[in-house]
Amino acid sequence: MIYTITFNPAVDYVVTADTFRTGKTNRTKTENIVFGGKGVNVSLLLHALNTKSIALGFIAGFTGKALREGVEKEGITTDFIEVENGFTRINLKLHAEEETELNGSGPEISENELKSFFEKLGALTPQDTLVLSGSVPKSLPKDIYAQIAKLAQTKGVRLIVDAAGDLLLSTLEFQPFLVKPNREELSEMFRAPADTEEQVTALAEELKRRGAKNVLVSMAGDGALLYTETGEVYFAPAAKGTLINSTGAGDSMVGGFLAEFTRSGDFEKALAMGTAAGGATAFSVGIAGFQKIMAVHESVKAGVQRVR
Ligand SMILES: Nc1ncnc2c1ncn2[C@@H]1O[C@H](COP(=O)(O)OP(=O)(O)OP(=O)(O)O)[C@@H](O)[C@H]1O
Ligand SMILES: [Mg+2]
Repeated sequence: MIYTITFNPAVDYVVTADTFRTGKTNRTKTENIVFGGKGVNVSLLLHALNTKSIALGFIAGFTGKALREGVEKEGITTDFIEVENGFTRINLKLHAEEETELNGSGPEISENELKSFFEKLGALTPQDTLVLSGSVPKSLPKDIYAQIAKLAQTKGVRLIVDAAGDLLLSTLEFQPFLVKPNREELSEMFRAPADTEEQVTALAEELKRRGAKNVLVSMAGDGALLYTETGEVYFAPAAKGTLINSTGAGDSMVGGFLAEFTRSGDFEKALAMGTAAGGATAFSVGIAGFQKIMAVHESVKAGVQRVR
């Protein structure tokens, strides 16, 4: 089974307004509720490609119940820990003359609640895959990524890490199966430029040297580079299309890659499906569905090439 983790999922309140003035009463033109979180996005994309997963993480309060209901209504199985104090955050995404965001901080997770979470992870087996992505709320220990990566290694669970900075770096000694930084994250991690292919390659090789088995560097509209454990390097040009909203493109890439890799075990095909899924989401409102992904896949699959 594939498990995704979202430590701090959110109910996004997405509104548009003709004008927005601070210090005044404003009115919305349109309003929408979207259930979000990076792990949840990966589960949604997997579901779009008929691949089962279970979404793990923490929810609280009435917003948490709504989030679970909403995500399950999309067809995803969840096994969230219900936290006693606080409520699942509401993030305001306001589109007026400018785009303004106001993100909540989420519930306080207690030691016991964290323990129950680790008990769930303790039941995973070498047949399982775990996707670890997104930021860590303040109430959780700073080394939680490393703790989970260590557990995954001990249990023989296939681990995928999609995060920035020290979160990702802290998992490397436990030899995660795949890490997926974007170019900015890669550059920031090593405080080094990642503009040219040579620079990206040097930094990706460093991630492998420190323990990552496979490294997927996503470069938004410039495509993606995959460095495999068997020493091959593949490049996938980004799909062509009209950009609508690239939020979640990276999560979709992880989902597409994983859906294909768990079926075929083929890196090149997995990169093509990841690229299709990332592009399809960039060309959609929200996370892309099956038909869009397959249409984009038709247009990108021939472009994926082995460069080394
Ligand atoms: N504008 C775009 N046009 C075509 N494909 C895109 C575009 N943006 C993203 N993609 C596809 O999605 C993949 C992942 O995108 P990106 O590098 O932006 O991930 P990310 O920064 O991790 O995104 P996020 O964290 O918001 O989910 C890219 O490698 C590319 O294949
Ligand atoms: Mg990302």
